[in-house]
Amino acid sequence: MHLPVFRTRLTDLFGIRHPILAGGLMWLSDARYVAAVVRAGGMAFLTPRSFAEPDGFARELEKCRELTGGLPFGVNLNVSKVEGHNLRLEAWLELSLRAGVRHFETVGRAPGDLIHRIHAAGGIAIHKCPLLRHALNAERAGADAICLIGVEAGGHPGAAQLGSLVVAPMAARQLSVPLVVAGGIGTGESLLAALASGAEGVLLGSRLLAAAEIWAHPAYKARIVAAAQDSSVVTFAGTHPMGAWRVLENATSREVLRREAAGARDHAEFADLVGGTRSRDHAYRDGDVERGMLSCGPAAAFCDVVEPMEAIFDRLMTEAVAARRRLAGLTLDMVSA
Ligand SMILES: Cc1cc2nc3c(=O)[nH]c(=O)nc-3n(C[C@H](O)[C@H](O)[C@H](O)COP(=O)(O)O)c2cc1C
Repeated sequence: MHLPVFRTRLTDLFGIRHPILAGGLMWLSDARYVAAVVRAGGMAFLTPRSFAEPDGFARELEKCRELTGGLPFGVNLNVSKVEGHNLRLEAWLELSLRAGVRHFETVGRAPGDLIHRIHAAGGIAIHKCPLLRHALNAERAGADAICLIGVEAGGHPGAAQLGSLVVAPMAARQLSVPLVVAGGIGTGESLLAALASGAEGVLLGSRLLAAAEIWAHPAYKARIVAAAQDSSVVTFAGTHPMGAWRVLENATSREVLRREAAGARDHAEFADLVGGTRSRDHAYRDGDVERGMLSCGPAAAFCDVVEPMEAIFDRLMTEAVAARRRLAGLTLDMVSA
């Protein structure tokens, strides 16, 4: 287990050893994964949307409490643009609070009410979004920290189309609450760059997909380990109400891109490829990695082996320390400057 190296307002806020958060992962961030991150010194978030019924989510909360051995863990509350998709939000929040969860990652529109409820229960919320103006709104609404996502992010990077090394210093200049940057972060060098840009932590997704504690099929993890610079593609940029979606390059995403190029725009024209439980059942459960839209960004290229979460965290921190030392070696002393 790596000793703490950096203390920031984020590590103080979440009470964590390292300034590293693991964002919610649809179908994948279950109790075992979240507990592995927490034990490695970061903070991770269960995704209630991965459970068909509130009872299943409640059982996962209980399991996570056991696996973390009393350490705090988090829940991802994603407010969908589609109103009908938010019917269970209240139940998820209530169950989480009842299970003792006080750390939340909120995502999506108008988080004000949600943040107020979380605060009233003594909790904290980091709001994740791609646009600085939404970040500023969330800060005004009371968010305790902001995670800005760059275009490299796996999943939904939003419409900003700016890299995380651009959005981090932009946001750091305007926000007062601690800033976390996400999108393409997969090494300790990138962690150090984010801190140097004014962020107080990073949030990872793709770099953690081959962790031993991820429940998915070995063939899926082998595909992640084989990922290269160009293994992810952005689909639905400007052509679908759900917005851009960065996924693994496979037969499904190639077909989506082909239909988009041919002019398809309605959800119905993609319904046989997108959504539902396709990615969970075909790719994550059965190992057929060509089937399903599999959220993933270029940081997966830094996954070179399936290994325990703690080993990944150790590597990130060791790299960050080496990078800091290298930078110190580049510094001219004041006399010669
Ligand atoms: C497999 C996968 C599933 C994801 N599912 C969700 C989700 O359900 N909710 C959410 O807020 N973000 C989701 N994300 C986004 C991540 O939480 C995180 O913001 C993103 O992965 C960071 O960028 P990176 O992939 O470049 O590290 C997902 C990302 C991946 C790779």
